[in-house]
Amino acid sequence: MAKLRWGMIGGGEGSQIGPAHRLGAQADGLFELTAGALDHRADVGREYAQRLGVAADRAYGDWQEMLAGEKDRADRVDLVTVATPNSTHFEITKAFLEAGFNVLCEKPMTMNVEEGEEIVRVAAATGKICAVNYCYSAYPMIRQARAMVRAGEIGKVRLVVTNFSHGHHGDAGDADNPRVRWRYDPAMAGVSGQFADCGIHALHMAGFICSDQVETLSADFASTISSRELEDDAMVNFRLSGGTVGRLWTSSVAIGRQHGFDIQIFGETGGLRWASEQPNQLIYTPVGGRTQVIEKGEGGLHEEAQRLSRVAIAHPEGFPLAVANIYCELADAIRGEVRDGLPNAADGLRSMAAVHMAVASAKDNGAWVDARPPMFRT
Ligand code: NAI
Repeated sequence: MAKLRWGMIGGGEGSQIGPAHRLGAQADGLFELTAGALDHRADVGREYAQRLGVAADRAYGDWQEMLAGEKDRADRVDLVTVATPNSTHFEITKAFLEAGFNVLCEKPMTMNVEEGEEIVRVAAATGKICAVNYCYSAYPMIRQARAMVRAGEIGKVRLVVTNFSHGHHGDAGDADNPRVRWRYDPAMAGVSGQFADCGIHALHMAGFICSDQVETLSADFASTISSRELEDDAMVNFRLSGGTVGRLWTSSVAIGRQHGFDIQIFGETGGLRWASEQPNQLIYTPVGGRTQVIEKGEGGLHEEAQRLSRVAIAHPEGFPLAVANIYCELADAIRGEVRDGLPNAADGLRSMAAVHMAVASAKDNGAWVDARPPMFRT
C-alpha cells in the first residue's frame, strides 16, 4: 500500500512535541513527510524541512504559504498535523479543514469554547477528519483498560482517580524563565495554566476509559508561586454522565514527581491502575483476589490492546509509539476504516468547555457547574 502524504506545521527543530510526531507518523511506514511549515522563522523552517527530506518546493515558510501551495496539487498531502503553540491551533485547523484536508491538531484544540464549537461544525460540514492528539489514550494498556471496563470485568465503575502532576515548574527562582513564564500568563496561555496544559489529558482519559463524558465539575485552583497569574495547581472533582465519581489533581510544582500521569479506576468487582512512567503494565485487582500485572504484548489481551502493540512482551514501547498508534488509527480512518478510539474534535471541544467551566467554578469558590459545551447540552 502506498504511503500517505503527510504535512506538518510547527514541531520545528528543538521543539518539544515535534520529534514524537515524526517518530510516530513514520514508525509503521504509513506516512511520508511530504510538506512542512515547521518553524515560526521561515528560513529556519524551510531549511529544516529539507534536511528531513521534504522537497524544496514543499518546504514552506509559513502555514498560509503551505495552504496555498498544497490545495490545488493533485498529490496534495493526505493529513496535516498542527503542532504549533496553542493560540494558533484554531485558525490553522479551521483553514485546512475548510480547504478539504484531514487534520491532527495538538491539544488544546482551541483557546475557547466558541472556537471549539466552530471546529466541530466545520469538521462535520466538510466531512474531513479532525483528530486531537490525546495520545496517552492510545497506549496499548489504556486500550486494555477501556476494553476491560466495557466487558464488565471490574463491574460498574464507581470511582476514577487521576493525577497529572510534575514538579518541573516548582523552582520559584526559575519562574521568570521565558520558557516557563508564558504558561502562566493569560495573554499567552489563555484562561488556564496547568489544568489546560496537563489536566485535560487526565480528564480526557477518565472519560475515555469509562466510555463516558464529564458532565459536572467543581474546581479549586491555586497559584502557589505568587508572581503567577494562572494556576500552577488544581484539584477538580467531577461526575461522569453515568454517575461515576471523578477526582483529578494536576500540578506543576510537585517537586520530585517527574512525568506524573496516573489513573485508577475502581469498579464494583475490581480495580485497575496505570501510570505513564510504567506504561506497559496495567495493574488489576479483582475484588477479594490477588493483584495481577497485565503486560503489554502478553497473550489473552483484548484485541484493541493487541493491535496497538508492536514489539514482543517486556520490550518497552513508550510515548512516541503511543503517538504512532494515533497515526495508525488516522491512516485507517483516511482509508475509510473508522476506529472508535481516535480522539476527535468533539473531544477537543469537551476539554475546552471543561477548562472554561473549571475556571468559572474556581472563581466561585468551587461551585458545581455544568462542564458540557453548550452545543452538547440538549
Ligand atoms: P515548542 O515551543 O517546543 O515548539 C513549537 C514549535 O512550533 C517551534 O518549532 C516553533 O518554531 C513552531 N512554530 C511556532 N509558531 C509557528 C507558526 N505560526 N507556524 C509554524 N511553526 C510555528 O512547543 P511544544 O511544547 O512542542 O508544543 C506545541 C504544541 O504541542 C502545544 O499546543 C502543546 O500544548 C502541544 N503538546 C502536546 C503534548 C501531548 O502530549 N499531546 C506534549 C507537548 C506539547
